Amino acid sequence: MSARRARTRRIVSLREPYEGRLLEVDDLRTHFRTARGPVRAVDGVTLSVDRGRTLGIVGESGSGKTVLARSIMGLLTARNVERSGSVRYDGQELLDASPADLRRLWGTELAMVFQDPMTSLNPVMRIGRQLTEGVRHHLHVTKAEARQQALVLLNDVGIPDAASRLQQYPHELSGGMRQRVTIAIALASGPKLLFADEPTTALDVTVQAQILDLLQQQQRNRFMAMILVTHDLGVVAGRTDEIIVMYAGQVVERAPTGTLFTKVKMPYTEALLSSIPSLTAPSHSRLRVIGGRPPDLVDPPQGCRFAPRCPYAQPKCTDDAPPLIEASTPGHVYRCWFPVPDPVPR
Ligand SMILES: Nc1ncnc2c1ncn2[C@@H]1O[C@H](COP(=O)(O)OP(=O)(O)OP(=O)(O)O)[C@@H](O)[C@H]1O
Ligand SMILES: [Mg+2]
Repeated sequence: MSARRARTRRIVSLREPYEGRLLEVDDLRTHFRTARGPVRAVDGVTLSVDRGRTLGIVGESGSGKTVLARSIMGLLTARNVERSGSVRYDGQELLDASPADLRRLWGTELAMVFQDPMTSLNPVMRIGRQLTEGVRHHLHVTKAEARQQALVLLNDVGIPDAASRLQQYPHELSGGMRQRVTIAIALASGPKLLFADEPTTALDVTVQAQILDLLQQQQRNRFMAMILVTHDLGVVAGRTDEIIVMYAGQVVERAPTGTLFTKVKMPYTEALLSSIPSLTAPSHSRLRVIGGRPPDLVDPPQGCRFAPRCPYAQPKCTDDAPPLIEASTPGHVYRCWFPVPDPVPR
């Protein structure tokens, strides 16, 4: 393919929003074989993301968010891993895709931004080379054109004085600037789906919002779908179309973002909501934390997995595992026998 055709194709793909399912995950299970038995890190997750839409995946540490994201991307390298179910990207089944097919997809359609920018950047390579290598690889352009494109990308992600930044090494940049560079690299291929796994956890609070705003702005400008993984419901509040709440490897609530915040059903989600720092609370006030610990994923409770920590648990909760139940609001499901009642209208 000529360089010009490659560039034209990319521009068309960025500017042509079209509707429809991009990602469909059905009953995905990811288990790790261990001496104690299988660790059921992802235990029957079903989700979907439409083109250009955003999904938040939220849950406490250890709930399976990263394993879920990596299972979808085919990025789990552990020898003791077993996956079953289905992951369809744009109609193509990824669970049995060859490593070469997966690499092609990561290079063009799918991209990922990780928590710590230092793990995705090469510490001994200048920023410019890391960016231009990505650009040249994806767009088949000359060195000069790649440099130009790298400058455009750095500008897109809000890095001032881009030309001189190209000469710098990652350690010469602040944490926020480094994360902007990794976002630029992720965007270089013009992905249709971006995974961001706790992209701001390692950053100062003041920088976190800037990076999240940048991701949101790029997601919209490029009509790119995005999955934003976080333990903090406050992060996904105004930035996603839909939210999935994970607990012990399972989806325990799924709802359009506005619905989740106004008509929460699952007591676990309610507890997460009450631990969002309030802007009006004194800055040193303690967050309400959820008492108790998440269950052992080798031997989870036979009833509701949240029951041992749930303030509303009844005997039925410890006996029977609740299925996902449909709420009265469209697109809203939850896994609870005794859901939080709707707020009384005033
Ligand atoms: N290679 C492995 N072998 C065995 N268990 C594993 C392996 N990798 C992950 N796990 C387990 O899978 C579970 C889910 O882990 P995961 O990293 O997905 O959690 P998380 O929700 O991303 O947490 P965090 O918010 O801390 O990033 C954890 O209990 C973890 O110990
Ligand atoms: Mg994680």
